[in-house]
Amino acid sequence: MKVFIIGGAGDIGRRLATALRANGDIATGMHRDAQQHDAIEDAGGIPALGDLIEHGADALASLMAGHDAVVFSAGAHGTGTDMTTLIDGKGVERAAEAASLAGVPQFLLISAFADSERGRGLGEDFEHYIRVKRGAEVVLTRTDLDWLIVRPGHLLPGAGDGRVSAGLALRETDVRREDLVHFIVEALHSSELTRVIVEVTAGPTPIAEAVAQVARSTGPRPISR
Ligand SMILES: NC(=O)c1ccc[n+]([C@@H]2O[C@H](COP(=O)([O-])OP(=O)(O)OC[C@H]3O[C@@H](n4cnc5c(N)ncnc54)[C@H](OP(=O)(O)O)[C@@H]3O)[C@@H](O)[C@H]2O)c1
Repeated sequence: MKVFIIGGAGDIGRRLATALRANGDIATGMHRDAQQHDAIEDAGGIPALGDLIEHGADALASLMAGHDAVVFSAGAHGTGTDMTTLIDGKGVERAAEAASLAGVPQFLLISAFADSERGRGLGEDFEHYIRVKRGAEVVLTRTDLDWLIVRPGHLLPGAGDGRVSAGLALRETDVRREDLVHFIVEALHSSELTRVIVEVTAGPTPIAEAVAQVARSTGPRPISR
């Protein structure tokens, strides 16, 4: 499978390229800074220069052409509310439009728990982040893509243990980044798990079984692939 990662130089993006490569897949990592080229190659990905703000949907579509899936793992990461709107919000909209134009059927969005840490006085920037993430989810669910929205718990570094909890409404806890990326690889390869929002935290279930369980619990979905 050929996967196009938006946010390819980011922490999740690079880990995902490595996990996809180990699985026998091909990962293209989109990055906006030419100096990130080697980091993506070192992670096992094929670098592709692109910017969600500077490039329109047509330009992004030509980069995506020929891939089977897009994974959106870009994020403004504390650079202010305007950037959050442009990257985590409008960036998703533009990337989804580009995927449709390019004929890429699958689109997996890394989102966030809808009420993550709200009400804990984290400030207006954080409330804005959550609002924008929710808005991007809504936009994606209204497309004809085979979308999958993955809401990870608080991301932790360090080795995973190959186990998670995955479901439609979980209590938010942490999740190891390694376990999240393996969940994503498994989900991308599951033709049963599509057009659903799934939350992922640390937990007791082997990852392949967790993907299968959510697919069973959501039943047959309208898929185009
Ligand atoms: N941290 C958590 O606990 C947590 C929890 C839930 C969800 N998430 C979500 O998980 C996702 C991935 O997280 P992460 O830790 O991998 O983040 P990260 O390391 O900050 O990676 C994000 C990547 O997005 C890229 N990016 C930003 N603006 C861009 C643009 N205009 N065009 C193209 N690429 C752009 C960044 O590029 P540069 O390297 O050039 O800056 C960066 O490489 C994010 O969407 C985040 O919101 C995180």
